[in-house]
Amino acid sequence: MSARNLARTVFRAASLRASAGLSRPAFAAIAQRSSAPAFSQTRGIKTMNFGGSEEIVYERSDMPLPKLQSYFKNDTMAVLGYGPQGRGQSLNMRDNGLNVVIGVRKDGRSWKHAIEDGWVPGKTLFSIEEAAQKGTYLMNLLSDAAQRDLWKILAPFITKGKTLYFSHGFAVTYNDQTGVVPPADVDVILCAPKGSGYTLRTLFLDGKGLNSSIAVSQDITGKAKEKAVAVGIAIGSGYLYETTFKKEVVSDLFGERGILMGAIAGLFRAQYDVLRANGHSPSEAFNETVEEATQSLYPLIGEKGMDWMYSNCSVTAQRGALDWQQKFYDATSPVYKELYESVVNGTEVKRALDKNSQPTYREDLEVELAEIDNSEIWRAGKTVRSLRPENVKK
Ligand SMILES: NC(=O)c1ccc[n+]([C@@H]2O[C@H](COP(=O)([O-])OP(=O)(O)OC[C@H]3O[C@@H](n4cnc5c(N)ncnc54)[C@H](OP(=O)(O)O)[C@@H]3O)[C@@H](O)[C@H]2O)c1
Repeated sequence: MSARNLARTVFRAASLRASAGLSRPAFAAIAQRSSAPAFSQTRGIKTMNFGGSEEIVYERSDMPLPKLQSYFKNDTMAVLGYGPQGRGQSLNMRDNGLNVVIGVRKDGRSWKHAIEDGWVPGKTLFSIEEAAQKGTYLMNLLSDAAQRDLWKILAPFITKGKTLYFSHGFAVTYNDQTGVVPPADVDVILCAPKGSGYTLRTLFLDGKGLNSSIAVSQDITGKAKEKAVAVGIAIGSGYLYETTFKKEVVSDLFGERGILMGAIAGLFRAQYDVLRANGHSPSEAFNETVEEATQSLYPLIGEKGMDWMYSNCSVTAQRGALDWQQKFYDATSPVYKELYESVVNGTEVKRALDKNSQPTYREDLEVELAEIDNSEIWRAGKTVRSLRPENVKK
């Protein structure tokens, strides 16, 4: 079995384990691989029409692997933080043949994960300060709260000639709350993958890519955008689109509180509860709310769009959905407007910083996640998933 097929098999096994609800650090299975992926895209299209608007895009074909390796041949990519993004981005860069070091606090959870993934203490795994000293690109992938809390420690290492990189416009845009004001003599760039680091990694291993936005907040060398594109490709992105630090953070905080995570969880729960309150079984309520959505209909939206999903359902379903979509639009629009305002005025940033800088922030989050896990809808979901034919024990 080739290394590529092995990696795919390992990933599929990991996906099956995850969907069967078995516990295992998801990343461990997808950390190691021995060959760099073939860049399959060959087009070099710079401008694309998005529903009537022209936008500049960058693709892997703009930076084939030899060019990418040559571009970074004198650089050390210091990845500071090893959460989902630090992990996904650093592993993809390592597989792309770049010189990568990891900087995390010693003996924490991230330190352990980094060792599991093959980073070697004293060689490629260091304290945050040591890694920041070694790096020419300082890739600040600490949690957003830690970016504020550790800024004074990090700042002395951001010296002339280095490049400061973020995956979120958070710290720089809301510097009135974070204190993150980069020195005036370095390039400051951003590449923000539109999805979790786990997906960034697994898509990369499968020869695919998560789309990312890029932005520049300081261009000292005249090459900041070029650098953002190059790092964006190096971390395994699909196509790259341009934004600003501010637009990135606002759209990101808005989206994740909205349909990506918050709204979808609320909508699922509301629908499930109405079905249950009217005497439908958990199995029926879960299948009509979550399972059919995630297993059948949403993948169709991803594949070919909303109209295609509609046209693959019965005319009865289409009639009802067309009639009711406006009501849901009208009901949720005011909530979305309130949410957007809460992001723009800094309320969401303040809350994230306050909550996520508590010493017990991970444990506190785990308590809230356990509440979700223990709620009826998601307990029912575990049983439903265990009954998927591919998960039934032979
Ligand atoms: N996750 C996503 O889907 C996503 C997508 C795009 C962009 N981003 C952005 O990417 C960046 C990293 O996000 P993430 O989700 O990967 O990270 P995260 O899980 O929020 O945290 C990452 C790291 O922060 C470290 N950390 C937290 N508090 C610390 C402290 N007081 N001292 C030292 N280290 C500390 C953690 O180390 P320990 O393990 O030792 O606690 C961990 O290595 C953020 O700017 C985020 O907004 C995230």
